Amino acid sequence: MRKKITVVGAGNVGATCAQELARRDYADVVLVDIIPSFPQGKALDINQAGAVLGYEPAMTGSNGYEETAGSDVVVVTAGRPRSPGMSRDDLVATNEAIVSAVTKEAVRHSPDSIIVVVSNPLDAMCHVAKATSRFRKHRVVGMAGILDTARFATFISQELDVSVKDVTAVVLGGHGDQMVPVVSATNVGGVPLPELMPKARIRKLVERTKFGGGELVGLLGTSAWYAPGAAAAQMVDSICLDEKRILPCTAYLEGEYGIDGLYMGVPVKLGTGGVEEIVKLRLTVDEKKMLRASAAAVRDVVSVLGRS
Ligand code: APR
Repeated sequence: MRKKITVVGAGNVGATCAQELARRDYADVVLVDIIPSFPQGKALDINQAGAVLGYEPAMTGSNGYEETAGSDVVVVTAGRPRSPGMSRDDLVATNEAIVSAVTKEAVRHSPDSIIVVVSNPLDAMCHVAKATSRFRKHRVVGMAGILDTARFATFISQELDVSVKDVTAVVLGGHGDQMVPVVSATNVGGVPLPELMPKARIRKLVERTKFGGGELVGLLGTSAWYAPGAAAAQMVDSICLDEKRILPCTAYLEGEYGIDGLYMGVPVKLGTGGVEEIVKLRLTVDEKKMLRASAAAVRDVVSVLGRS
């Protein structure tokens, strides 16, 4: 049977994700936004692009949730993006209320769905979606690691003048400035990164990756959308098509990597069941230390939830 996907938030990230999914042509997509006529307009435009690009017009835009009923996956991108000078954490109070409200409505109509959270601050918003939906941990997962890894891989490919397709990069931890690019697990065509670049150059790329979101906010005046939208669509593919890809995603940890009761970015197996497995990577002592620091930073943001 054809799959059904809801994307909440028809702004930059949501519409990009929806468009990517439309091009795949395996699912009906419902695009929801609070702004009257906006998601309807986006859906109509994306449907008309199908006549040029060769996919069926299977997108519906809505300001409500009736049309979303029975979705297999719900992607939550609703919320405010960053402006220059803002950290992702500055969005916490505004986006907590939005993510909570949209999750409540979405799961009422799609009680068997899997939720992919994209709104920032990502790790904290995963906690909000899990608490609101009351779904079990494997059915609420966040998009951050694929994006952070894509940024790291792009910088490595440009620096070495090789195809990005042959770069296998890994970034773990929270989706903040304390994320952990895992150099020990990063390779190019099977050759470990430390054999290809001096430490100082690696350090520069790691730093650029950590602040990669901020770099884009500086350039665009708002947060990025092409790579985030594509990354969310890749997660939806793996779930809907039961691809069982091993992808860096934000998952609820209960002891894995020495972290308990917290959403963090780790490699997971993603399939029809959602997070079907958390993959354990062997980390260096330094990487473990950085992961603990990243967890502490995520806990700080999570601790302010529910206060406003
Ligand atoms: N219900 C539905 N849609 C909502 C709601 C709500 N309660 N509140 C806000 N929205 C919609 C807005 O109307 C807007 O169209 O969410 C959309 C957000 O789109 P943009 O402002 O373009 O933001 P975008 O760049 O897409 O980022 C969305 O994803 O990557 C994160 O940090 C980013 O938190 C931000 C989110």
